[in-house]
Amino acid sequence: MYFCRKHVLVCTAVHCNQKGAQQVAARLRIELKRRGLDADVMVNTCDSIDLCDIGPNIVVYPDGIIYRGVQVKDIPDVIESLRAGGRPVERLLLTADSEDEVRRRQLFVAAAEREPVPADEFLALARSHGFDEAWCAEEARRGFIARKPYGDGQAVWVTSKARRRYGLPGGGAEGA
Ligand code: FES
Repeated sequence: MYFCRKHVLVCTAVHCNQKGAQQVAARLRIELKRRGLDADVMVNTCDSIDLCDIGPNIVVYPDGIIYRGVQVKDIPDVIESLRAGGRPVERLLLTADSEDEVRRRQLFVAAAEREPVPADEFLALARSHGFDEAWCAEEARRGFIARKPYGDGQAVWVTSKARRRYGLPGGGAEGA
């Protein structure tokens, strides 16, 4: 470790890695070095930051900026943002008010209010918020929703992981 102006953490845990995080981290390091910024900006890989559904994610300190869905093609813009006086890359920036994050939160709030939500109703709810069946399956795989047998079919529960992320009751250590 040495003193640097910015510290970039690239999540290379399994879900981000499946979407190319290692390539993002590698290209970021190469391009920073090529531009002579590697002493100014330190890049490290890290474990999951719990935003697995929207990776690859990177976090920039001391700004506290989170970029989501970062691909190799985005690296030039990310590097420009890391220069002294650089402005954040708006299209990659994740905030609580990001349009997609607001839609996700609204969906989870609605689902939590109705749970257990029959699986077909959850899908309809997800669609009404702009998400499809593949997205629902990914949310289940990544532990944001739990699908369990219920009555004659299946129902969906909002997990503690999702509750924690969206600030819903039950997001503490008490479990899903
Ligand atoms: S795998 Fe990157 S945020 Fe979870």
